[in-house]
Amino acid sequence: MLEGLSAKAEEPQRRLTGVGEFDRVTGGGLVPGSALLLGGDPGVGKSTLVLQVLAAYAGAKKSAVYVSGEEALAQVRLRAARMGLAKAPVQLGAATCVEDILSTLATAPAPDILVIDSIQTVWTSALDAAPGTIAQVRTATHDLVRYAKSTGVAVILIGHVTKDGQIAGPKAVEHLVDAVLYFEGERGHHFRILRAVKNRFGATDEIGVFEMTGTGLAEVSNPSALFLGDSSSQAPGAAVFAGIEGTRPLLCEIQALTAPTGYGTARRAVVGWDAGRLAMILAVLDARGGLGISGRDVYLNVAGGLKIAEPAADLAAAAALISSYTARPLPKGCVLFGEIALSGDIRPAPHAEARLKEAAKLGFTRAFVPAGTKAHGLALALEGIEDVSDLVRVIGDSQR
Ligand code: TYD
Ligand code: MG
Repeated sequence: MLEGLSAKAEEPQRRLTGVGEFDRVTGGGLVPGSALLLGGDPGVGKSTLVLQVLAAYAGAKKSAVYVSGEEALAQVRLRAARMGLAKAPVQLGAATCVEDILSTLATAPAPDILVIDSIQTVWTSALDAAPGTIAQVRTATHDLVRYAKSTGVAVILIGHVTKDGQIAGPKAVEHLVDAVLYFEGERGHHFRILRAVKNRFGATDEIGVFEMTGTGLAEVSNPSALFLGDSSSQAPGAAVFAGIEGTRPLLCEIQALTAPTGYGTARRAVVGWDAGRLAMILAVLDARGGLGISGRDVYLNVAGGLKIAEPAADLAAAAALISSYTARPLPKGCVLFGEIALSGDIRPAPHAEARLKEAAKLGFTRAFVPAGTKAHGLALALEGIEDVSDLVRVIGDSQR
């Protein structure tokens, strides 16, 4: 039974769906016999996404089955019609009992892709527990994973993120499946991000970006443009951060506004960034940059509703704050990245080259980066920043 590590393993034949952003996040298409979990908040667009994926995939020799336990078939058809997908050869079923689903599937040749929407609605008659409980969700998932392995079907399971402990969320089954993707988005914003958090057949941390439209999700192949805002404007308080999401560079605009405090304590409001991180940057700007900013009201916003978790965003956030505080716009066409230490020093950030490449591609001509950062053969002037007082000086020198 035992074999060597070097024994020939066959690269699995992947099933490309034709939705490019979805295919990139899965690592190059769905793997036959695998199970993928697609999690996300209710209403974020999971059903819409899978319907588009199935419709793009289904064709003459490619069969796709969508089993809905949440919506009536009429509802699913209505949605498909609204999205212009009514003619796609996707087969529909409405069922919630795993045994029923599997025995129905057994009466025909196995499909290539099967979607179960959602795992919280399916249940097995082998258990007494109510649908949605951890035991039910785990057992049903287990049965569906076994079905995938034994038939070679690529199974996509949808799971709602739940706040209520009564209903099992996707976390309860993450360990049972081969890949886990999360679909994220802010209410009131029209873009959605598909993120891989586990993938036995590819890299994680890869993202796909979609834009919500009245007729479904549109793929955004150049996401930087979406989050840049109108960066041609030279208003003080705006800085472009050269970020990385997964393996993919993503430029976005960080906006800051500082104003005199009216009464009492200074106000702070942050959207898309960590409030604790903002407090730290403000303290460092005062202590090491010689500013008197933390006594003022401060508002910080990441454009487009994006959430940034990278420490490398510090430098751009600090630049936006200094720019607003001094009422001086940043130099034309510049991007920034770098982590700020409590000492005020600017620390290097990973993937410098990828960040700079993306910035150059989008027409940026200058970059403020941690001192010592190198990039070769790019049409971009690099300016190393040693510490925050250096940053204050550079912005002070910039043309009004
Ligand atoms: P839905 O796919 O049903 O979300 P989930 O399955 O995650 O609960 O989408 C929620 C609502 O948003 C639905 O009424 C359709 C609408 N919607 C659009 O109008 N355009 C879009 O691009 C998406 C993704 C959703
Ligand atoms: Mg749904």
